[in-house]
Amino acid sequence: GVIRSYDFTVKRGLIAPDGYQKNVLLINDQFPGPAIEANWGDTIQVTVHNQITGPEEGTSFHWHGLLQKQTPWMDGVPGVEQCPIAPGESFTYQFQADLYGTSWYHSHYSAQYSDGLLGPMIIHGPENADYDIDLGPVLLTDTYHKPYYETVKVVMAPLDQGGNPRPASDNNLINGKMDFDCSTVAEGDTTPCNSNAGISKFTFTTGKTHRLRLINAGAEGLQRFSIDGHKMTVIANDFVPIQPYETTVVTLGAGQRSDVLVTANQGSAQSAFWMRSNISTICSSSNQPNALAAIYYDKADTNKAPTSTAWDVPDPGTCANDDLSLTVPYYPLTPTDHPATTRHLDINSEVNATNHFLWTVDGGTFRSDYNSPTLLLANEGNFTYPPEWNVKNFGSNSTIRVIVNNPTSSSHPMHLHGHNMFILHEGPGAWDGTSITNPNNPQRRDVQMLRPGGHIVWQINADNPGVWPFHCHIVWHLSAGFYATILERPADIEKYSQIPMIMPQTCTDWAAWTKNNVPD
Ligand code: C2O
Repeated sequence: GVIRSYDFTVKRGLIAPDGYQKNVLLINDQFPGPAIEANWGDTIQVTVHNQITGPEEGTSFHWHGLLQKQTPWMDGVPGVEQCPIAPGESFTYQFQADLYGTSWYHSHYSAQYSDGLLGPMIIHGPENADYDIDLGPVLLTDTYHKPYYETVKVVMAPLDQGGNPRPASDNNLINGKMDFDCSTVAEGDTTPCNSNAGISKFTFTTGKTHRLRLINAGAEGLQRFSIDGHKMTVIANDFVPIQPYETTVVTLGAGQRSDVLVTANQGSAQSAFWMRSNISTICSSSNQPNALAAIYYDKADTNKAPTSTAWDVPDPGTCANDDLSLTVPYYPLTPTDHPATTRHLDINSEVNATNHFLWTVDGGTFRSDYNSPTLLLANEGNFTYPPEWNVKNFGSNSTIRVIVNNPTSSSHPMHLHGHNMFILHEGPGAWDGTSITNPNNPQRRDVQMLRPGGHIVWQINADNPGVWPFHCHIVWHLSAGFYATILERPADIEKYSQIPMIMPQTCTDWAAWTKNNVPD
């Protein structure tokens, strides 16, 4: 196959995507980061140069949703699959575009991606529906005006010392743009602010059908996406093509993607409509939750704002994705109803003795050790780890079913690395132990919304030996320990995946840097 090569230089920058000047992290000086594009089966190669200074910090990149079969080393989770890329160092990721459709890549180091280390990743493959024009990625990102590490500090502070586990975003962007109301900035805040930064604009060709690749690349917000006057046909969720169905609003949790088709058949060639993405204020927290972009038909005046009216579809407040009965994979796969092992990985929260709010998975809260990746130890046949790594050893089981109950009042976009999960069931309350939605062909995807007070049940075939993060994709929850590692077929890791020579080097470099520096 073809090799698609990219070169990413990561640096700090000062930009104002929504008019409010903000310290950010940029890839090749771009926000959002450059698009990765490949064909199914190609090899993607990305060299990351960590040029972050003032202060220096580590980084690492994750290619969200790709399976990384036989290349778990390239999955990019620091402390789990590699050591962070040390300041001044470079690292080359190389992996196969083993699924096709719409996704994104992002830093997996702390909450860095919410400051800009992210971009779309488009992999072309077979089509499951007809359309005329690919409009490309539509990135939906909540944004925080403070640098990410300031927000992490607030999230991690003791509750009686200003700690807030659920910080609110300041704005919501479509493809990196949105206006911000500068009159709302706090008294005494002298940061440069311009209320007319501008929004993203899209062109529809009259009569044609357009593909939009919706990506929730945000830190927290649950997005409700719609286009005034137009219904959308959903053709894929995450990397999984589905049987097309029509809807007016698509709900996307952090990390999720949906590909939708929209036909420009409303009004005349001079028409203009609003594209909207509203953060659900029932399920998430945002000071300015509603993002807008403009869609102009080919003969419309692009200097005039659209005057269209939003669909009257109230937020159901369930914090759930569309019902599983609606989302049926295009290519059917049937999971076994007799999984080799079934386990609970229930989630919860706690306030510990020092008054810190922490999230737990199966009773454990996660702390990573950047110096000692779990995968490196597993590759050496070492399968006993400190409890705070929250490793769940599934042994040699060939199929794994996991029940996740959520007694908390928050919703959580639950993400598993290395697999598309069969989502057997989701709903309010506890699972009844038997119900499966579309048992012969259940929805598969890599992020599934877990509603407040609800459950999800997922299953995988253990066909990818490795150590795979299972976590909430809300970065602030991840910072506060919402994470477990699935240890899959440990005995096969070493023979299945050849450790690349450059991998231990990340640890040597990181050790050398941390000798004289204290990472945040
Ligand atoms: Cu999109 Cu563990 O991440």
